[in-house]
Amino acid sequence: MRAPGPEWLGSGGVSRLQVVSGKGGTGKTTVAAALALALAREGRRTLLVEVEGRQGLAQLFGAEALPYEERKIAVAPGGGEVFALAIDAERALLDYLQMFYKLGSAGRALKKLGAIDFATTIAPGLRDVLLTGKACEAVRRKDKAGRYVYDHVIMDAPPTGRITRFLNVNDEVAGLARFGPIHHQAQAVMKVLKSPETAVHLVTLLEEMPVQETADGIEELRGAGLPVGRVVVNMVRPHHLDEDTLRTAAEDHRAGVAKALSRAGLGGARRGGVAERLVEPLLAQAAEHAGRVELERAQRAVLAGLDLPTYELPLLGAGVDVAGLYELAKELRKQSVAE
Ligand SMILES: Nc1ncnc2c1ncn2[C@@H]1O[C@H](COP(=O)(O)OP(=O)(O)O)[C@@H](O)[C@H]1O
Ligand SMILES: [Mg+2]
Repeated sequence: MRAPGPEWLGSGGVSRLQVVSGKGGTGKTTVAAALALALAREGRRTLLVEVEGRQGLAQLFGAEALPYEERKIAVAPGGGEVFALAIDAERALLDYLQMFYKLGSAGRALKKLGAIDFATTIAPGLRDVLLTGKACEAVRRKDKAGRYVYDHVIMDAPPTGRITRFLNVNDEVAGLARFGPIHHQAQAVMKVLKSPETAVHLVTLLEEMPVQETADGIEELRGAGLPVGRVVVNMVRPHHLDEDTLRTAAEDHRAGVAKALSRAGLGGARRGGVAERLVEPLLAQAAEHAGRVELERAQRAVLAGLDLPTYELPLLGAGVDVAGLYELAKELRKQSVAE
């Protein structure tokens, strides 16, 4: 039996479609996968979709390259299953033609002629129509008993710079095709994307560039009427020094540190001794750390000004494998439940 919907994800209730964007390299793929596992831990059946054709999800879960079909890639301890799908624009176009024009074998003939390649590579807007359309189809899909097939769909989405255009492409289509099946399909997609069922999360690091991109991205999404979910602050490093130590770390404490090292048994504090030779690199490291903490504070202040709910995920020392994903998923659950 599946658990009732958790009230803790997305903005204003349960988001059935969670779109994960952010500056490249900030951890979109990782966070999308961890979110899916967190939901699965609640007993929810979740579909992870990839739209950039990089097979990042397969790599992350140590699975073979994903075919164009939904495939179970993990079962969480709560019993919830995680499926994954790498959406391929070409196959999605064949689905689309099939849906509207019943072009079964004719579609395959078009493919042979290269028409499909042409359509999906030459018209980037069309690509996005197909990718978002397929994701929304999975969100809306119901089984024979009328229940949603997936409780949640999590999208590993394009980066912040392209996300608004990507999600909004069907608005343009609905405007171009003013009636008929394509108009209806485009409208149905936008209805899902602009509803409270959807939340667009932005992943960031505590660094100036990704934080700025996050702020700009949120403005753009809101301007387009798309629902912003959370800011996910990823790869947060622990702070080793307390307040007092941080204040003094940048100052010159050569002699004092040398003495302390000497007292700790690391040779005499005299010039040229072991303790003295250790002083420089240690002080440099402390100063660097203090400087970074200062920068991070400034970025935290900018993020706080955005006034959005956040998740915060630690930097995992050994990189991210499946065990690491479960660790991040646990963090996500902890932070949601605490609210
Ligand atoms: N919390 C984390 N701790 C440690 N490494 C991380 C963390 N999140 C992401 N990474 C690593 O950072 C790199 C980029 O992450 P990825 O999810 O592929 O980013 P994106 O999809 O935004 O390009 C990957 O090598 C990933 O393993
Ligand atoms: Mg990625």
